[in-house]
Amino acid sequence: VCPGSLIVVSNRQPYRHEYEDGSETDRSITVDEPTGGLTAGLDPVVQQASGTWVAWGDGDADFDVANENGCVTVPPAEGAYTLRRIDLCDEAVDSYYYGFSNRVLWPLCHGFPTLIDDRTNDFEWYRTVNERFANAVGDHATDDAVVWLQDYHFALAPRMIRESIPADATVAQFWHVPWPAPSTFQHCPAGGRILEGLLGNDLLGFHVDQYADRFLDCVNRFLPAATVDKNRRTVRDGGERTRVVATPMGIDAETHARDAESADEEMFDALCSEHGLPDLDETVIGLGVDRLDYTKGIPERLAALERFFERHPDWRGEFTFVQKATPSRTEIPAYERHGELVRSEVERINSRFESGGWQPVVYTDEYLEEAELCSLYRNADVMIVSPLVDGMNLVAQEFVAASVDDAGDVLLLSDRVGAHELLGSHAVSIDPTDVDDFADRIAHALAMPAYERRRRLDVLRERVFDADLDRWMQTQFDWIRRVHQDPRSRG
Ligand code: G6P
Repeated sequence: VCPGSLIVVSNRQPYRHEYEDGSETDRSITVDEPTGGLTAGLDPVVQQASGTWVAWGDGDADFDVANENGCVTVPPAEGAYTLRRIDLCDEAVDSYYYGFSNRVLWPLCHGFPTLIDDRTNDFEWYRTVNERFANAVGDHATDDAVVWLQDYHFALAPRMIRESIPADATVAQFWHVPWPAPSTFQHCPAGGRILEGLLGNDLLGFHVDQYADRFLDCVNRFLPAATVDKNRRTVRDGGERTRVVATPMGIDAETHARDAESADEEMFDALCSEHGLPDLDETVIGLGVDRLDYTKGIPERLAALERFFERHPDWRGEFTFVQKATPSRTEIPAYERHGELVRSEVERINSRFESGGWQPVVYTDEYLEEAELCSLYRNADVMIVSPLVDGMNLVAQEFVAASVDDAGDVLLLSDRVGAHELLGSHAVSIDPTDVDDFADRIAHALAMPAYERRRRLDVLRERVFDADLDRWMQTQFDWIRRVHQDPRSRG
């Protein structure tokens, strides 16, 4: 339970109001409810705390159902908490979301400095939008407020919030993406301001030790006036103290297992025919589920599959790889190019190997419901999660939770994702860029004896269920309680 009046801040909102079919004439409005991931996990917590959630209102009916401050009570039927929506004009969205957040901070944090595209005005809009969020928080913050910001969209807001809300209130943030080494961070435009902004937090959380340590290294190097204690993981900046922690996030494992259990064969067949997938009952199934993002290593995965089919012709016609991709941030050229590359590679590999109605790779970018995804997870024999870098990767955990059958499915997992710390020892660990080795490991996974698969999966399941979303939330609130009781000493 949160030790104060909870105010969550995130870019994505938990509920979105839309006009049906995008038509404004019949005025019937639908509400998207949170599914999966962080918003779905946090929603019950904010409900229980009767808190406030501040987020970008990106639905076309969002402000028609809200009051003049952008506030609406949600969930619609219960009205358990206030969702405060921030209205962003097109230019703000282009510069703050498609611009500084996703053309600068995203590639920077994932170690792709060459993809940084720092356009004039993007940082200024990022600052302005952070300020608008901070002001909105200020309207709701009481003495015992616990402000909990999510992710890289809000690197400047913590300091702004700190300066405008009661001194006893707590400001905390969880950074869901990796933190880069100083040699990469030096390419960050306004890097010093980003670090100073983040040091407005009393508590700053990362998924793993490496990101926390790198953050401290960056502060050491780029903010010489701040005092870093690497052992205690604290930073003092002008008398104020920020505690940095590594607390890996989990998933709602129970719900995924339940959804998978109720996803029977019939549902899987219906899913395949509805989404134009071929009959998959006849072959062993490999699966990839990713946002279509250049960090996810999809071209490298396809190259490894191609090498695998070259070297193991006996598996042709016997093994099908299903790649479910979710198009994302398509207005950014790097994403558009990447989507084209993935689709053309799938086509090329398919035309090279397909025969007698069998295709080596089945690609879909159709929207799937959570329950349908669980059905896919359950029916997959081998899951390939091979990002080039990823803060945590919840898909790997979801697959493990949804593997409810006795057969024992195998997880192939990149050694460059946060989830590798928890799962790497019992997954088949891969270097996503070593094509030959990656191909060998796919073959190894497919040939693994049943008892070995079962043994590994049992351990993976235990870990995913132990370190689940509830547990993560409790750890966050325990830390928040600690910094809350120990208000930062001001200089
Ligand atoms: C990553 C980020 C999240 C983000 C999600 C989807 O997981 O850490 O903050 O919400 O990607 O991306 P989008 O840009 O569609 O919100």
